[in-house]
Amino acid sequence: GKRKKEQDKSVPVDKENYPRKEKEKDMDDQAVYDLIAAMDQDDTCLDDEENVVKISTEVDSLSMILDNISIESIAMNTFSVSSVGSKVLDQNKQNILEVHEGDTTNIFYFHDADNKFGSHAGSVAIKLPNDELFDNDQVTRLKNEYTVSRHLSQCAAVRSAISEIELRGVPAIVLEWAPGMTLGKWISCFHSNMQSPVITENVYPSILSKDDMSIFLNLAWNISKAIADIHDAGVVHNNLTTENIIVDDSNENTSVSVKIIGLGSASFQNNNNGKSQMIRKDLTSLGFIFFEMFTGQYPFQAKGENTLLSPNQLIFELTCKVPLVIAKILLHIMEIGGYNHSHHSARDLDNNLYAIITDLESIMSSCYTQVPLGQLELTENKLYGRGSHIMELMSVCQGIGINGPSKIALISGYSGEGKSVIVKCVKEMLKETDVYFISGKFDQLQQGGPLPAINAALAEYCGHIVSQGSQNILDIRRAIMKEINNDVGVLTAVFPCLRKIIGESTANPVEVAS
Ligand SMILES: Nc1ncnc2c1ncn2[C@@H]1O[C@H](COP(=O)(O)OP(=O)(O)OP(=O)(O)O)[C@@H](O)[C@H]1O
Ligand SMILES: [Mg+2]
Repeated sequence: GKRKKEQDKSVPVDKENYPRKEKEKDMDDQAVYDLIAAMDQDDTCLDDEENVVKISTEVDSLSMILDNISIESIAMNTFSVSSVGSKVLDQNKQNILEVHEGDTTNIFYFHDADNKFGSHAGSVAIKLPNDELFDNDQVTRLKNEYTVSRHLSQCAAVRSAISEIELRGVPAIVLEWAPGMTLGKWISCFHSNMQSPVITENVYPSILSKDDMSIFLNLAWNISKAIADIHDAGVVHNNLTTENIIVDDSNENTSVSVKIIGLGSASFQNNNNGKSQMIRKDLTSLGFIFFEMFTGQYPFQAKGENTLLSPNQLIFELTCKVPLVIAKILLHIMEIGGYNHSHHSARDLDNNLYAIITDLESIMSSCYTQVPLGQLELTENKLYGRGSHIMELMSVCQGIGINGPSKIALISGYSGEGKSVIVKCVKEMLKETDVYFISGKFDQLQQGGPLPAINAALAEYCGHIVSQGSQNILDIRRAIMKEINNDVGVLTAVFPCLRKIIGESTANPVEVAS
């Protein structure tokens, strides 16, 4: 919509006078309504191929603040500083761009050419609930972000909070614009442009190049310093993600600049036990962020999920890409693999990373031959996780001939589950004792003759006795005859191998069943 109204342009923005209710009252309701309507309207443009659609909605009378505004929409996924830059450099226009449509808030970029908001760099971010039916929680978070940002006004790691305003009843906060891109975007750009390592026979480890490592370390160091500054000022962030860190590396003369944003869940440190817990949570989140930065992969099962990869996977990914000493620092802050926080503060982490940066040359020179850790290695012929089963079977076998009547131990399980391999293992162990171990397998496919498994076991045993000489054969024969005597013909008929010891039976057994 279009609408003109006389405005009092002479009233400067009074930064100190918060909340600025009186001035907000002066705002032209219709203009604000138009602004909000135009902001809403751009939802329809998000699917556009170019993702840049000019709505051409001029809302020219938003009180003393916004005049001659043209609203343009740039979908979040193609937003970059340069695209904004080229538009705002249009001298005669003040542009407002929707730069981020979040779950609960929208962020608009406003080029404040006449410095009506009192921004330092001439551009501000206006943050407001993304739904006119905003709830209390959204308002609380906005107000919290404002309060915490004001508290951190001396902290360069956080963008300054300029004012709290109301756009037709919708609360909004105005913050200094932080140029750059989200760390999430920075990471995916950087990793997609990175040359993949030359694949040699030995694919792992694919350690990052010294140049890439140096860029990552510098950024990690800057981020740690930023968090340390926030912590030192008595605040914890509580929601550190790659989306809540803005990185600006566009100025080649200065080092990369880092702003921590998204302070809606931030809180003031209280001096009871919860304090270290809160700091610890920020540090762990920082570890996950650095993991993504160095490896280019999420430490979670999937993007947006909370379930971490297994410790082994995390350790392996890290030790493939970065020198051990750096991997260890990251594992420490992520509290993975039995490591816990040896870094008690972000400041310690900052110092630690600085020490690594100064020593990077020698660290890198020795890391290209490092063996990645955490890779699952299976040792051949080792039985995994069967300790208790082996003990059980051993104790049954050792009780043979000692405790009462005859016993039988049966092992059942699906094919391939490891029955034979357990038996083989116990057989090996029994070699040291006076138990003679014989075995046979009940097999579905060997049902031609009776009791083939026992026959196979006895055949093995008879072969062993025969190999020990005639005296041994005689002793065993006597022992068997003493126990069974007349019925021995039944045995030799069913288990022909016994004939090697007992000989042919003279009395044929009576057949009782066919
Ligand atoms: N706990 C284990 N640790 C390591 N390897 C195992 C384990 N269990 C089974 N295996 C391996 O799996 C394979 C199958 O085991 P095995 O032959 O003992 O199975 P099975 O239960 O006897 O199968 P089938 O019923 O077909 O005879 C073997 O190569 C064995 O070494
Ligand atoms: Mg088997």
